[in-house]
Amino acid sequence: MPFEELKTTLQQSPKSWLVTGAAGFIGSNLVETLLKLGQIVVGLDNFATGHQHNLADVEAEVGPAFRQRFRMFEGDIRSLDSCRRSVADADYVLHQAALGSVPRSLEDPVTTDSVNTGGFLNMLVAARDEGVSRFVYAASSSTYGDHEALPKMEDRIGKPLSPYAVTKYVNELYADVFAKSYGISTVGLRYFNVFGRRQDPDGAYAAVIPKWISAMLRGDDVFINGDGETSRDFCYIDNVVQANILAAVRGDDAKNEVFNVGCGDRTSLNQLYRMIQTSLGDLGVDAGKNPIHREFRQGDVRHSQADIGKAKHLLGYAPSHNVADGLQTAMPWYRHFLEAA
Ligand SMILES: NC(=O)c1ccc[n+]([C@@H]2O[C@H](COP(=O)([O-])OP(=O)(O)OC[C@H]3O[C@@H](n4cnc5c(N)ncnc54)[C@H](O)[C@@H]3O)[C@@H](O)[C@H]2O)c1
Repeated sequence: MPFEELKTTLQQSPKSWLVTGAAGFIGSNLVETLLKLGQIVVGLDNFATGHQHNLADVEAEVGPAFRQRFRMFEGDIRSLDSCRRSVADADYVLHQAALGSVPRSLEDPVTTDSVNTGGFLNMLVAARDEGVSRFVYAASSSTYGDHEALPKMEDRIGKPLSPYAVTKYVNELYADVFAKSYGISTVGLRYFNVFGRRQDPDGAYAAVIPKWISAMLRGDDVFINGDGETSRDFCYIDNVVQANILAAVRGDDAKNEVFNVGCGDRTSLNQLYRMIQTSLGDLGVDAGKNPIHREFRQGDVRHSQADIGKAKHLLGYAPSHNVADGLQTAMPWYRHFLEAA
């Protein structure tokens, strides 16, 4: 069933969803779309990297539905009790809560592991005991590690290059073992460099797109790690929201599988820089400076590009935005948000 038809079906028969990491970038976008589709949503977050203003933004977008059909549960996934309480009565879980960022995990592997692995296991146990229909979780393209072949196919992975990548791979292993041992239905989504509205531009671990846009709007220098020919499959947030909802409700074909969620394209950092410059220029912002190149960053893979054939075939995934469409759609939001900040 195509995504548009699926949305109509959901609207006619609302379900209960738990979104973990609801105050974060991806989580808040999931909450927003689900509420717009008439669903009943519980959010779980401890605000480690998420923000109250993301939820306020969702409320502004969805209006009264926010208070009528959304309940926020402030808690930590490292507490099994918090996981159990938030998952009560959920039909579907979209598990996004984690500590992202490769550099953060290299600096503090212990905390990254306790949240991303221990917290994941708690959430999986709670979802199993609640008997949810499906447990969809945020996996990561970092799982491809040192496997160099492009495009990345789900069944060909290498060795992880960072503690973060280890945790995301362990998530997949746990999900698989829980499916086999306890019969829980899971789907893992290996996201490829997601970007879009509400992605945090601040802090040492900010992702490249919001960090650069923020710097360009302020007229600050932009730094590129390495020669700029490093490439990524930058994936707009709406594609990720689509993949999550499809992964939750699709039938048995999708069950206990892991899928790439990207666009199937590859953009170098140098190309990305020019695209952002052009988009900002279209909005009348002078972003003419040249970037400054510095050392390559430890733990980064050189190239990344998803093969999205499996997600297309088994989930019915059809990305609505390529990188250029996504930048064009997100840019006015970034400009408004970052200039107001
Ligand atoms: N953004 C990307 O490009 C990308 C790529 C691959 C995978 N992912 C994965 O997608 C998920 C969402 O990432 P995001 O980009 O929205 O990041 P984010 O930091 O904006 O969101 C993560 C959310 O999880 C919450 N959280 C962290 N630790 C928690 C804990 N112990 N208990 C409860 N909540 C906790 C944070 O407060 C935050 O709101 C993560 O699992 C991340 O690893 C993201």
